Amino acid sequence: MDVGIIGGTGPAGRGLGLRLAAGGVSVAIGSRDPDRAAAVVDEMAAPWPGRLVGELHGVANEDAAGAKLVVLATPWEGAVRTASALSGQLEGKVLVSMGNALVREVGEMLPLVHPRGSIAAAVQAAIPRTRVAAAFHHLPAREMADLDSGLIADVLVCADDPEATAETMSLVERIEGLRPLDAGSLSQAAAIEAFTAVFVTLNIRHRAHSTLKLAGI
Ligand SMILES: NC(=O)c1ccc[n+]([C@@H]2O[C@H](COP(=O)([O-])OP(=O)(O)OC[C@H]3O[C@@H](n4cnc5c(N)ncnc54)[C@H](OP(=O)(O)O)[C@@H]3O)[C@@H](O)[C@H]2O)c1
Repeated sequence: MDVGIIGGTGPAGRGLGLRLAAGGVSVAIGSRDPDRAAAVVDEMAAPWPGRLVGELHGVANEDAAGAKLVVLATPWEGAVRTASALSGQLEGKVLVSMGNALVREVGEMLPLVHPRGSIAAAVQAAIPRTRVAAAFHHLPAREMADLDSGLIADVLVCADDPEATAETMSLVERIEGLRPLDAGSLSQAAAIEAFTAVFVTLNIRHRAHSTLKLAGI
């Protein structure tokens, strides 16, 4: 598999996996329960006959972590524990963290500030032999999962390792309509993750499905 998505059975992992497969990438959708992953992959592929150029497979998280490039798409609460348990499989690889720590409160989203600054930084601290990048935080899962929706968005990518940034940006480029932007070191993940709360709140208040697109770059 080209890409493995740990926790890939949720809306975020499904949307990302589907778009990547449509872009010709072979994707392993990972789960704590491989039978659930297999069922989810059948559900994902069914509405899009002939549209998925890359293969989709439902596998255990351990096998998803064996892919060349790996994305971590569990809820933030499970990110560090899940990555730590897979540290052997992830050693030497690039792991893309897409987790946001958010809490919903009286009609808006608020960011939870992790003691390490961000979920991505916490994962990096837990598995230092893996090169962690952060990306995909602001993509709406529903639009990602609808191949007919004309998705246009910028994806902010940050990492401490330049190769991790480059590999993640190449991955983003496999999805039509997405533009990767190098947003700096992994320290930027704190602001990128927290901004998701603002972004989701804007969409709630304006009853919108907007995506992030920066003018002038
Ligand atoms: N939803 C969005 O629009 C969106 C967009 C951008 C980024 N994100 C971020 O992407 C991540 C995933 O979002 P989501 O909405 O797809 O989340 P989700 O549905 O709550 O979780 C994704 C998958 O993770 C597994 N999982 C659940 N709890 C877990 C735990 N404690 N430990 C390990 N695995 C667990 C489950 O798969 P199994 O039961 O099959 O193992 C679940 O299907 C989040 O961190 C979110 O902030 C979401």
